[in-house]
Amino acid sequence: MVALGLGVLVLCMMGVCGEPLPLVIWHGMGDSCCNPLSMGGIKKLVEQQVPGIYVLSLKIGSNIIEDMENSFFLNVNKQLDNVCEQLAKDPRLQNGYNGMGFSQGGQFLRAIVQKCPSPPMKNLISIGGQHQGVYGFPRCPGEISHICDWIRKTLNVGAYTQAVQEHLVQAEYWHDPLNEDQYRNGSIFLADINQERGVNESYRSNLQTLEKFVMVKFLKDTMVDPADSEWFGFYRPGQSKETITLQESSLYTEDRLGLRKMDKAGKLVFLAAAGDHLQFSEEWFNENILPFVR
Ligand SMILES: *[C@@H]1O[C@H](CO)[C@@H](O)[C@H](O)[C@H]1NC(C)=O
Ligand SMILES: *[C@@H]1O[C@H](CO)[C@@H](O)[C@H](O)[C@H]1NC(C)=O
Repeated sequence: MVALGLGVLVLCMMGVCGEPLPLVIWHGMGDSCCNPLSMGGIKKLVEQQVPGIYVLSLKIGSNIIEDMENSFFLNVNKQLDNVCEQLAKDPRLQNGYNGMGFSQGGQFLRAIVQKCPSPPMKNLISIGGQHQGVYGFPRCPGEISHICDWIRKTLNVGAYTQAVQEHLVQAEYWHDPLNEDQYRNGSIFLADINQERGVNESYRSNLQTLEKFVMVKFLKDTMVDPADSEWFGFYRPGQSKETITLQESSLYTEDRLGLRKMDKAGKLVFLAAAGDHLQFSEEWFNENILPFVR
């Protein structure tokens, strides 16, 4: 045992073993950094499975209640500035990190890659993220369902009005396929990062620096409409029944974001999980997700 320990030590001094790359987690809507039943549990699981790893579960705000409220009401662009600053200030992240976003945290972390390239993210793992937005919240989990009812009403009143855009996070990735022009013009977050109003070259080149962009879709998702958005697909413009894949979209064929280039280079990974939104077992997580974390 002593000899083995010594061997490991010598290898590490030679820089062979190295520490695992840190992991940064961004929670979903109505959740917080540290709930032991959600992100706290994921953090613990990763720490058990990858000894020595540093896991940062992002908190937006000064406490858990604020963090949860901000997932509904703090302008995503402000959240991105806040997170970009947290990442830049954390000495343990300066050699890079992997990112793991849950639900809306998936598209928010992609925005971080595109807008905030330093420190660099290596792999982005989006678990149920909605990269083409949503056109409905058919169901919301347990205690937040009354908030969802309110959100639905507000979105119906005018998702793309300036007042709603600036104060309601879910409006900022609301994608109305019947009114693509309004979406393109009015969405202050998703239409921006998806290059709908023009091509920002730095968004494209920053996204290319990822080694892998992993997207998990939940095959029995009852909370995201359409669930295809979790693989970057969406409704074919002009109607809300038929969906198209990422590869069929103009974003891909015109390659405004470099996703086609990444796909051809084998950087896009499409994973399916059998259950409802964010429902997966520890075994599934260990087997399918952890290989991108180590
Ligand atoms: C592109 O995005 C970066 C980062 O958000 C921003 O600083 C820059 O102004 C944008 N460029 C254009 C042409 O909009
Ligand atoms: C585009 O959005 C701006 C800002 O929200 C708004 O003032 C303008 O009327 C919109 N234009 C169209 C054509 O929808």
